[in-house]
Amino acid sequence: MAKPRFLECMECGRQWAYQASGMVCEACSSDWLQPHYDYQTFKRELLRGLPGRPANLWRYHDVLPVDEPQGFKLTSAGGTPLLLSRSYAEAVGHHPLYIKDERYGPTSSFKDRQAAVSVAALLEAGIHECVIASTGNAAVAYAAACARAGIKLWVFMTSLVPQEKLREAALFGAEVIKVSGNYDQTKQIAADFAQRRGLSLDRGSKAFPARESMKTIAYEIVEQLGWRAPDWYIQAVSGGLGPLGIYHGFEELYAMGLIDRIPQLAVIQAEGCAPMVRAFKAGREAAEPVVPQTRIAILSTGDPGKTYTYLWRLAQRHGGLMESVNDMEAFTAMRGLAKAEGMAVEPAAAVAFAGLEKMIRAGQIADDDVIVVNCTGHTFPVEKHVLGEEWRVDVHLSDDQSPAPREGLLAALETLDEKATTVLLVDDNPDSAILIQRLLEAKKKYRIFQAVDGADGLAQARGRLPDLIVTDLMMPGVDGFTLIEELRKDKRTHNIPVIVVSAKDITHDDHQRLKGHIEALIQKGSLSPRAFVEQVVQVLGDKTSREGTS
Ligand SMILES: Cc1ncc(COP(=O)(O)O)c(C=O)c1O
Ligand SMILES: [Zn+2]
Repeated sequence: MAKPRFLECMECGRQWAYQASGMVCEACSSDWLQPHYDYQTFKRELLRGLPGRPANLWRYHDVLPVDEPQGFKLTSAGGTPLLLSRSYAEAVGHHPLYIKDERYGPTSSFKDRQAAVSVAALLEAGIHECVIASTGNAAVAYAAACARAGIKLWVFMTSLVPQEKLREAALFGAEVIKVSGNYDQTKQIAADFAQRRGLSLDRGSKAFPARESMKTIAYEIVEQLGWRAPDWYIQAVSGGLGPLGIYHGFEELYAMGLIDRIPQLAVIQAEGCAPMVRAFKAGREAAEPVVPQTRIAILSTGDPGKTYTYLWRLAQRHGGLMESVNDMEAFTAMRGLAKAEGMAVEPAAAVAFAGLEKMIRAGQIADDDVIVVNCTGHTFPVEKHVLGEEWRVDVHLSDDQSPAPREGLLAALETLDEKATTVLLVDDNPDSAILIQRLLEAKKKYRIFQAVDGADGLAQARGRLPDLIVTDLMMPGVDGFTLIEELRKDKRTHNIPVIVVSAKDITHDDHQRLKGHIEALIQKGSLSPRAFVEQVVQVLGDKTSREGTS
């Protein structure tokens, strides 16, 4: 079956007959080894269209280092769709753009491939207990695959990883150790633990079953594109195992003469943890470790070690670049992809899309280049900071049976109405903003957003399209007059009612400027709380009833 023919040392090139044990090079002691297979026979199978093969990664078992067919039955990762993007491609301004949608795996990330092949290899080696340190998704994927295989798994994750991931691993029966420290420290503790207990430790990028699992992504892409390679392959990177494995796949396909080029590689990292990007931009072959400072804990490998050097060599051989994006850019891309393409991904996967957008803006991609972005996957209860505080509307139906259920429902609908009503307060004076907010809150449970000046007000108005804007007039930069003029010019905002609350003495000219553009003008000094709130309620009431009858 798929037993490798020989192993090659990735450092000194020495080759020797494959054996399951003895995993270091005799010549240079390196433990970075690459298996090679019977490509002649495999190529014949590929040319025949792989008849009777499953639609998952075991389709390519001839070039996977697992011999035991029982492994194949365990985890059917891979076989994910390659989507030709229309709306998102349109939004970012590049065609053709393909998305390799790795959310379609047992635990919804591309790490499912790694878990499938690694766990099959563990079973083949007779190993029934092991240890892994992970930035999150690998742990969850291994936990699921180990559950199916009956292997006891110890998972080490940092406390920075979203708790949902820890809970998910625990759900699959893994022993979860939460370490308050960064990922590189967590890896060290996991290694010490494994050594003390004499347990097998996952070797990350060094483990060839893990790397070989990833190359099935290259095989799938090429098959899905009709035996063609893309011009660019783009991926979000933490430790770098993914692209390292995937490029071995492209190189095998090229060596077999099945593709005529190898795509350029784009490695995208989170700016707060971008040791590879730093080294690449400085033209260095080795990366200096960094202490991660990103909210995207999934991509927080501060010390990529040798993996960077191998990726650097790949980029030298085939062309490519390494680029970073900040957390906000990733969150924005995440929302853009969700809105345009209906695809929810976690911030780590969105990093690749934010990178793509940056590359397009920088003119680094030729007009008709065929791009594949690896949508590495996974969505989960979205972290609060991605959406801010006010993204949700709760409806509480009282389980107390009096008043009658019908009235309870009505009351709930009324509060829903209030909570679904958005008011934007634009005021540079925090005290007066809070006063206005309190006045409104005392009356109704509107969703209230605050903007600190006219420019912020304009941006939030365009983004949130509130039901009412309450604004000050005198503010630094963009003042209330300009804000109102800009709102009226923009067709998205020109109908939003505006109430002005100002301490300024209003001149005749001011009146003329505001006339016809605002619903009410209230003098701050004489701000009667009752009158003000009545005014707001009335304007909003008018607005909803207008909408209700139109
Ligand atoms: C969703 C997601 N994207 C990208 C990565 C980066 O993976 P790697 O650098 O190991 O290829 C990870 C790693 O955990 C991930 O979970
Ligand atoms: Zn060697």
